[in-house]
Amino acid sequence: MGDVRGEHYLFKVVLIGDSAVGKSNLLSRFARNEFNANSKATIGVEFQTQSLNIDGREVQVQLWDTAGQERFRAVTSAYYRGAVGALVVYDITRRITFDNVARWIDELRMHSDTILVTMLVGNKCDLSNVREVPVDDCKAYAEAEGLLFLETSALDATNVHTAFHSVVKEIY
Ligand code: GTP
Ligand code: MG
Repeated sequence: MGDVRGEHYLFKVVLIGDSAVGKSNLLSRFARNEFNANSKATIGVEFQTQSLNIDGREVQVQLWDTAGQERFRAVTSAYYRGAVGALVVYDITRRITFDNVARWIDELRMHSDTILVTMLVGNKCDLSNVREVPVDDCKAYAEAEGLLFLETSALDATNVHTAFHSVVKEIY
């Protein structure tokens, strides 16, 4: 899967999930080691290409980030086209964002032409003192749906690299 360019591979991976769960900050933490406490809602689509070393090989990953808010979203089918991996993100401090995960996964499956490597990502684990989503619920859900699963924090960088790396490794 992906485009083979000599020895290089290019994989498209999409980030989805409700607004303000931290998709853009996961991407900026991963790509530039940056976190923004006052980040604005994404409008339209942004993407970033990042190289990853997987088992000693250079792999290029194109990471796509879009708005969680319906009114700011771009054309959905174009966003998913050609994607081979997805991170479905919720916020562990807001139950509603986990309850909406099933809808995001439906949309993903409806618009993608291949079986995607999909990871369920519970972000903001630095805020576990105000957690609304028990980790065991998500583990069970992920297992039932055949998803990878991790809790992350874009703020303190917990598991951010591991999340992206695991998805790409699974594709590769
Ligand atoms: P949309 O673009 O509207 O879909 O939102 P988004 O999912 O891209 O969320 P964004 O990355 O803009 O983050 C929303 C808010 O949550 C911002 O105030 C961030 O600073 C904050 N935030 C993101 N990740 C974390 C995290 O891991 N921990 C904490 N404590 N705050 C976070
Ligand atoms: Mg965003």
